[in-house]
Amino acid sequence: MTAADARAAAARIVGRVDREGAFSNVVSRTETKGMNPSDAGVARAIAYDALRNLTQIDVEVDRASKRPLDRIDRPLLDLLRVGVAELGRSDRPDALTVDAVVRAAKRSNPSYAPFANAVLRKVARSAPRLHPDMPAWLTAEMSSVFDDHEIEAFWEASLQSPELGIRGSGTPGGYVPVPGIEGAWLGSGPIPKGFEIQDPASVAVGLAVSARPGEVVLDMSAAPGGKTGQLVDDGARVIAADLHPRRTRQAARRVPGASWVIADGRTAPFEPATFDAVLLDAPCTGLGTLRRRPEIIRRTGTEDVTNLATIAGDLLASAIELVRPGGRVVYSVCTVTPSETVEVVAPYPARPPDLQLPGRALGKGWLLAPHLGPTDGMFIAIIDR
Ligand SMILES: C[S@@+](CC[C@H](N)C(=O)[O-])C[C@H]1O[C@@H](n2cnc3c(N)ncnc32)[C@H](O)[C@@H]1O
Repeated sequence: MTAADARAAAARIVGRVDREGAFSNVVSRTETKGMNPSDAGVARAIAYDALRNLTQIDVEVDRASKRPLDRIDRPLLDLLRVGVAELGRSDRPDALTVDAVVRAAKRSNPSYAPFANAVLRKVARSAPRLHPDMPAWLTAEMSSVFDDHEIEAFWEASLQSPELGIRGSGTPGGYVPVPGIEGAWLGSGPIPKGFEIQDPASVAVGLAVSARPGEVVLDMSAAPGGKTGQLVDDGARVIAADLHPRRTRQAARRVPGASWVIADGRTAPFEPATFDAVLLDAPCTGLGTLRRRPEIIRRTGTEDVTNLATIAGDLLASAIELVRPGGRVVYSVCTVTPSETVEVVAPYPARPPDLQLPGRALGKGWLLAPHLGPTDGMFIAIIDR
């Protein structure tokens, strides 16, 4: 494995996220499969830098290139993007970066090499400092609840690369437990047997449900089933529903211990007051997960926030109907916009989970976030019936 292989893998990740709509946390694993852990780590880190800074990087490439961007072959453009991303990090000699990317370009197509060399040398001379600004629409979205200082802290934390989060029981080598979130571990390296990838914030949601053996729990928007598996492991009888057939089928294979149903949670085929607990891990913008999926910022806008907040509100009304008196609804979203978090639960007598989680109280719920602790962003609120 060479430095060029790692840059080639990084370019494939960028291309798949940019043009196929793939999620970086998924393709960064598939495209580095079989690489040694250190090269895979380098490839992922450069790809993430490129994805975080893609808009500025394309401006730099355009400035340094004699050809307009849309006339550069896509595989070559992706290699240039990872080259510029790495030059922007400035912790490696520029000549080594240029050499590795040019070698990867040559391997892809020998005619790419002189062009890649010329563009990257020109970019290196201008020594760009890459740092994306938070989009104005997101600042505006957040400002009704967060002050400027906290918005800035959230953004800076969202630009960092997180460690890998895993969940399971036992003591996995190479990982450390996350204080306050039992069963959640952070670290790096291979995923130990019996553990699965899950950010500590997601593990916290499962803990907030506190499903007990014998309870009947509805996981109302459950695919891909990360939290469903946790509820099953806790011994509950879990009915798991999701709107999307393909996602539901995949999740059913992943978590066979739950009973899976394809259903719209707003019109779910269940009697009112049926469940001991309902988990509504609602569809949302995912803006709390920017560390792992930086592309979300370019795929999201204010209309998405508004639409998803409306769906979440409708799903929550339905979830409350389905839970029995004395039961509870756990509402969670992996985002930080007030419209999708505090405002959705505002009409109800909601409360934060009864746990010592990292993060802080927000409205009637609890916020975990990368600027408040070692987790992705997640808002959790409980409504007792
Ligand atoms: C945040 S994801 C759930 C993640 C899941 N709880 C986990 O831990 O793996 C939200 C899910 O809501 C589903 N969804 C969207 N609209 C829905 C609806 N009206 N009813 C039920 N599920 C819906 C999406 O298909 C998506 O799988």
